[in-house]
Amino acid sequence: MMLHHDVLIVGGGLAGLRAAVGLSKKYDVAIVSKVHPIRSHSIAAQGGINASLANNPDGRDDTCEKHAFDTIKGSDYLADQHSVEIMCKEASEIVYEMEHWGCPFSRFPDGTIAQRPFGGGGYPRTCYSTDITGHVLLNTLYERAVSKRIKFYQEWYIVALVTDNGRCGGVIAFDLVRGKIIPIAAKTTLFATGGYGRVYFHSTNALINTGSGIGMAYKAQVPIKDMEFVQFHPTGLIGTNILMTEACRGEGGYLLNNKNERFMEKYAPKAMELAPRDIVSRSIQTEIEEGRSFEHALGKYIKLDLRHLGEKKILSKLPGIRKICIDFIGIDPIIEPIPIMPCQHYSMGGIDTNEKCETEMKGFYAAGECACVSVHGANRLGGNSLLETIVFGKLAGLAIDEYLTNNDVKADEKIVQDRKDEIEKKIIRLVSGSGEKPFILQTELAKTMSRNVGIFRKKEEIVEAINNIINIKERYRNVCVSSPSRHMNYELMNTIELEYMLEVAHTIAVGAHQREESRGSHYRRDFTKRDDTQWMKHTIARIGEGGGPVITSKEVTITQYQPMERIY
Ligand code: FUM
Repeated sequence: MMLHHDVLIVGGGLAGLRAAVGLSKKYDVAIVSKVHPIRSHSIAAQGGINASLANNPDGRDDTCEKHAFDTIKGSDYLADQHSVEIMCKEASEIVYEMEHWGCPFSRFPDGTIAQRPFGGGGYPRTCYSTDITGHVLLNTLYERAVSKRIKFYQEWYIVALVTDNGRCGGVIAFDLVRGKIIPIAAKTTLFATGGYGRVYFHSTNALINTGSGIGMAYKAQVPIKDMEFVQFHPTGLIGTNILMTEACRGEGGYLLNNKNERFMEKYAPKAMELAPRDIVSRSIQTEIEEGRSFEHALGKYIKLDLRHLGEKKILSKLPGIRKICIDFIGIDPIIEPIPIMPCQHYSMGGIDTNEKCETEMKGFYAAGECACVSVHGANRLGGNSLLETIVFGKLAGLAIDEYLTNNDVKADEKIVQDRKDEIEKKIIRLVSGSGEKPFILQTELAKTMSRNVGIFRKKEEIVEAINNIINIKERYRNVCVSSPSRHMNYELMNTIELEYMLEVAHTIAVGAHQREESRGSHYRRDFTKRDDTQWMKHTIARIGEGGGPVITSKEVTITQYQPMERIY
C-alpha cells in the first residue's frame, strides 16, 4: 500500500498545525504525528509568546523594531536579521489571529491581552495564559485543524525521508498500532518535528523530543545549521527536570545561592534574573561549581524563590508551576523555594532553511524547532519559540502554496517504493538479531552530551565526546530489540530514532569543537571571547562520505543592527 498527498506534514505541534490550516483550503493535506497532536511538545511551553502589542502600561512604546533588536542582541548577533524582522513584524497579527480563533489569553483589567516581562526583553511583551500558554495555543490550533479537511495519521512515526537527485519524494512511515511500514509519496513534505532534547541527559523536553527529524534530513543529504548552539534553560526542577517557567522570574521570582544572595547581581546587575538564558544558566552553573549551591539527594541546586510574590499572585499567575512542584517534589512554592538546576531546553540549530522555510532539497521544507531559519542565532529569548512555530508554520504554508501553484509537481512513487524495501530489510535485522540494547547506548550518549558538551565546554572534553559518539555509532550496528512484535513496539521506534540521535549529537559535538570562540549558548573555557572576525558565520554540517559531519560556513545576514557587546 502506498499513500499519496499533495502536502505531507510531519509533526502535529504548533508549526505543523498552522501550516496545515493555511493549506487545507486548496490542497490535500496530511499530518503524521507519533503522538496524538495535542500531546506534541508545544503543549509543554508555559510562559508565553512574544509580540509588541504594547498593552502593558510599562510597555506602551514597544515596537516590532525594538523586539527585533532585543532578539538580535539576545542571539549574540548570529541571527539572520531579515528573518528576525519578518518574525517580529508578523508577531502581533499571529497573536490576534490566535485570539480570534479562540485562544483564551490572560487579560489585563481593561480586557486587553496580558503581557509579562521575559528575559532579555526591553519591554514586557510576552503574551500569556497563566503558565499554560503552549497548552491553550495548541488546543486552539488543533480545534481549528479538525474543522478543516486535514487527514491525521496519529501514532505513526517516520523511519526515513526519501530524497533523490536534489528532490524530496515523501517519507517512509511506520504505523505503531498496526505495526506496518507505510510509504507516503508527497508532492511536498514539511518537517515540523521539534527539537532534540533527549540527546541530553538533563532536559526539560518530553521523551518524544529525539531530534530524529533533524537527523533524518541530515542523513538524506539536507544540510543542517548552527548545531553547536544548544539552549540550557536556567530553571529545571531537580530530579525530573520539568520546566519551571521563566515566567516565575518574569513575575518577580528570585534566584538564591547558599549564602542567601541574589547572585545575579554579580553577573547581570541591571537585568538580574531577567538576563537572557545563556547568561543566567552560566551564572547558576558557576555558583554550583564554586560551591555556593545546596545539596539534595537528587543533585546540587539553586533556589528559585517565589514566596515574596504571595499566595494570591502565585495562584493566579503560576498555578501550574505550584501544582507541578507539589506533585513532583512535594514542595509548595507559596511556602518553600523551588530547587532548580539548568537543563537542556531548546535547539537553536536545525535543518538549514531560508526565511520561507525552503531547504536546499526541492519539495522539502522545515519549520519550528527542527528548523534553523535562523531567528535565534546563538541564543534564543524566552517567548520567541512559540512565536517562531506559528509564524514560520504560516510562512511555510505560503511557500508550499507558491511552489505547487507555479510548478507542475508530480510525486515520484518509485523512489519511495525502493526506499520502503530497504527499510523493511533494516527492520527485519533489528528485530531478529542479537546484540546490545538500544537504551544502554542512548543513556551513554545522553550522559556524554550532558557531561562533555554542556553549558561550559573545552577542547579535551569535546574530543572525548566525539570519540564516545563514534564508538556508540559503531556499537549501534549490532543493536537489537527485545521483541519481534511490530505492534506498539516502542523499543523498535526508539532504536530507529537512536540512529538519528547519534547523527544529531555528532554534529553538535563537531560544531562545538570547531567553533573556537564563545558566543551565546556556546561557551568555550579555552576561547572565552566572541570573535567576530573569524566566527561571525553560521556553521553548516553535511553528512560526509565516511559517515561523519563535514563542516562549512554561511554568511550571517545583517540589516541594520551592528554587532556590539552584550551587557545586561
Ligand atoms: O520558560 C518558559 O516558559 C519557556 C518559554 C520558552 O522556552 O520560550
